Amino acid sequence: MAEIVLDHITKRFPDGMLAVNDVNLNIADGEFIVLVGPSGSGKSTVLNMIAGLEDISSGELLIGGKLVNDKSPKDRDIAMVFQSYALYPHMTVRENMGFALKLAKTPKDVINQKVEEAARILDLTQHLDRRPANLSGGQRQRVAMGRAIVRDPAAFLMDEPLSNLDAKLRVQTRTEVSRLQRRLGTTMVYVTHDQTEAMTLGDRLAVLRNGVLQQVGSPEDMYGRPVNLFVAGFIGSPAMNFLPGTVEDGKMRTPLGDIPLHDRLRQALEQAGAPRDLIVGIRPENFEDAALVSAASRPEGITFHATIDVLESLGSDVFVYFTKELAQGVDAAELQELAADSGRAEAGVSGDTVVARLDTATTIREGQDAELWVDARAMHLFDPGTGRNLSLEAAVRADETVAGPTNLASGAADTSQAPATPAAATGQAPPSPGSAQAGPGQMAAGEMAAGGMAAGETAAGQTAAGETAAGETAAGGMAAGETAAGGMAAGETAAGETAAGQTAAGETAAGETAAGEAAQGGGAT
Ligand SMILES: Nc1ncnc2c1ncn2[C@@H]1O[C@H](COP(=O)(O)OP(=O)(O)O)[C@@H](O)[C@H]1O
Ligand SMILES: [Mg+2]
Repeated sequence: MAEIVLDHITKRFPDGMLAVNDVNLNIADGEFIVLVGPSGSGKSTVLNMIAGLEDISSGELLIGGKLVNDKSPKDRDIAMVFQSYALYPHMTVRENMGFALKLAKTPKDVINQKVEEAARILDLTQHLDRRPANLSGGQRQRVAMGRAIVRDPAAFLMDEPLSNLDAKLRVQTRTEVSRLQRRLGTTMVYVTHDQTEAMTLGDRLAVLRNGVLQQVGSPEDMYGRPVNLFVAGFIGSPAMNFLPGTVEDGKMRTPLGDIPLHDRLRQALEQAGAPRDLIVGIRPENFEDAALVSAASRPEGITFHATIDVLESLGSDVFVYFTKELAQGVDAAELQELAADSGRAEAGVSGDTVVARLDTATTIREGQDAELWVDARAMHLFDPGTGRNLSLEAAVRADETVAGPTNLASGAADTSQAPATPAAATGQAPPSPGSAQAGPGQMAAGEMAAGGMAAGETAAGQTAAGETAAGETAAGGMAAGETAAGGMAAGETAAGETAAGQTAAGETAAGETAAGEAAQGGGAT
């Protein structure tokens, strides 16, 4: 068990690439934290620095209160699970899971006990004597996790461990990872580019963009109080809608109509020196079919007309899409970046289409000129130049005004750093990590079952890899990658240390599968 502290951590690669820029993050003991951001934002680099697979250019890394910058991976007491979890094809599940312990010369009965315990947690007991080729993708992923669990590390580091699974299995395994972490209560640093995965898994999220930490907080913080355009557009599905807005005569002019500004907000915007032209952010659920809004609620927003281009009824939700003379659109680097990011392909951040989620009681139809309502209280106002969420800052500022002395000058002047609100990326760990008290042992081992994965489901690619690897050359190749990964975590082999010393271990291990490289958007391509 250990807390992990990143203190002004920076990574500049030899070619000059500044991949991680001055990241500060306090990860509490037992906490489940998710590093999330688009491909290339520096997530793997951060994780590899924690693991010891990449040198730290500057800053300090502490694990369990000890400075570990110069410690080799094996002395960091962490276990890592990669996206491309190469299992030894010629070994059984039991042998795969116990291999690191065997290298560490752990007594056989202890190995057996640990492997069986891990197998029970992961519902792999009945598969212990099988080979990887005879397992489904999800089962193989669990074996990879089992390998990490048996080491009983101070922390788990996982780099997109579910990316190779199909959508359904990914959701199932996601739930397992979450239960597993609660059950073990071990600190977890989990990397993903998938914001849904991040939101469902993390006690807290740390959003990265171009190597810079944007915001650290609970899923609720990220969703309800995004500090800037980037976080606002990245978190949430369907994504937040962005419309141009102009402050005029105490109102916000938008393509939907004039939205009155509360005096407090208007004053705060003025005090902050906000530009007249802003970007208005509205989440899909802040719209409603006007006919379903009570007379009491109506004044809290505005009603407007829109021609419904598309209506999607999902049973639990109704989504409508419409355009609203957004010709001039909104233009901000953050939004272009998000639109370009494949992880957010479905996002409404690029186009001129607005998406609204309506109550299923709506009788609005496709093609209809409908009357809709939007909740003005829920809108976010962004500075198009800096991307900062001015409404959030205004709210904080207003609170401060009530509370006493303020420090407006520093808050308003500091535009060089992406996160500017007091609550922004301070990276402080919460006082009590939720997961640590979430009742270990609360779930029976049987509940860990993913269910429904027949051996027949074995992914073709994986089987091929396993079969090829049975040949000696390929097996050697896989073992090398494997040793790098295993050695990094268990650190018991010379090969592992050498690889780690060259800071190329991660790449060697990940590089074993082309899919791994591609999906990780790694440096090789
Ligand atoms: N060995 C390297 N040399 C130079 N640049 C690298 C190297 N590894 C990664 N990068 C670059 O650093 C940035 C962050 O990479 P990475 O941490 O892998 O991002 P992520 O995991 O978020 O997709 C990317 O622009 C990537 O191309
Ligand atoms: Mg990565």
